[in-house]
Amino acid sequence: MTRYFATCARGLEPVLAGELNALGASDVEPGRGGVTFRGDAAMFYRACLWLRTAVRVLRPVHEFSAHSPDELYDAVRSVNWSEWMTPDHTLAVDCNVRDSAITHSQYAARRVKDAICDQFRDRTGRRPSVDTEQPMIGLNLHVSKNRAILSLDGSWSSLHKRGYRPIQTIAPLNEALAAGLLLCAGYDGTAPLADPLCGSGTFCIEAAWIALNRAPGLTRQWFALQGWPDFDRPLWNAIRDDARRAVRKDLPHPIIGSDVRQDAIDFARANARTAGVGNLLTFEKRDVRDARPPSDLPGALICNPPYGERLGAAVKPGFAGDRPRGPADEEKELIGLYQLIGRTAAEHWRGWRLFVFTSNTTLAKKVGLKVVHKAPFFNGALECFLWEFRV
Ligand SMILES: C[S@@+](CC[C@H](N)C(=O)[O-])C[C@H]1O[C@@H](n2cnc3c(N)ncnc32)[C@H](O)[C@@H]1O
Repeated sequence: MTRYFATCARGLEPVLAGELNALGASDVEPGRGGVTFRGDAAMFYRACLWLRTAVRVLRPVHEFSAHSPDELYDAVRSVNWSEWMTPDHTLAVDCNVRDSAITHSQYAARRVKDAICDQFRDRTGRRPSVDTEQPMIGLNLHVSKNRAILSLDGSWSSLHKRGYRPIQTIAPLNEALAAGLLLCAGYDGTAPLADPLCGSGTFCIEAAWIALNRAPGLTRQWFALQGWPDFDRPLWNAIRDDARRAVRKDLPHPIIGSDVRQDAIDFARANARTAGVGNLLTFEKRDVRDARPPSDLPGALICNPPYGERLGAAVKPGFAGDRPRGPADEEKELIGLYQLIGRTAAEHWRGWRLFVFTSNTTLAKKVGLKVVHKAPFFNGALECFLWEFRV
């Protein structure tokens, strides 16, 4: 059984651990920004294909102390790289450093690549070439407090890039974080779901995939693990075929999204089509004050309203008109919006559970409903909270 590490946004570790347990992983241990687990190759493949909240799934190759780029180089050269690749494999190295004597991540990544290429050149006279787009061997170097872990990255490009959202325009929520927030909210498809500020539709699409039991990796064209020397193609194909067969055809309960902006609704519809759920979701242009439940059965009302830090210029037209505005104007509008969300929920969504994801505590309190729970998450470097309100 091999030890693996799946990374995630901070705050999502318990959710990711829950996903890994459900997939049958052993020795699942949540840490900071990720979860350690054990399993065989099939488990690793399932993790890459099925995990909704993971950003990367890593297979550690070497763990060592590194106080300088030279020490890093020597440690990487001490690994017998012919066990992991050949000079015909393409290579790329990604690096993150924290609280360490090595501070320059790009230089560290280059030293790792040099150490591997130099070893192959000395032993065989040939060296692997670099492909940063689609490497067959994608390595992740993580250095924290002068401890380095060098791992193979199962996907290379981050797993949150599901492949259904090419257009990044209106401060969309990271797909893995959106899925994690839905799972935290207890969403499992057994009740309706609505997002009345749906933007590009991320909550609705991720919810549909959860409700349909659709593996998030099914839309992805390529995983780096497919280029590894020990890649087991029949096993991988069997796991993908099982995942395809496991997809339900219909949603048991409605999932609806609305937004005040027509362009947001257009994006949401296009994204849903690419995600294979265009015919199952309803998106409509509508102000949040006019949002109404899709069914008598109560469910989850979840949204990620603007919080004044990331949207910036992108939200000005359509959100507040085209005239130039100052921060005070914006804050006043946002206070009004959060109050409106609370009032609309109280008047029209009785019995539903309201979840609001925001970094702004002052604004969250303007919702004006009783707080049931408040959970912290990191959206990039920004600390945010998922607030649950009693309606
Ligand atoms: C942060 S974005 C939501 C992003 C979304 N979660 C996604 O993943 O794309 C906030 C959205 O709230 C919408 N919005 C702002 N005021 C609104 C209102 N009064 N009624 C409905 N939608 C509104 C904006 O148009 C914007 O799309």
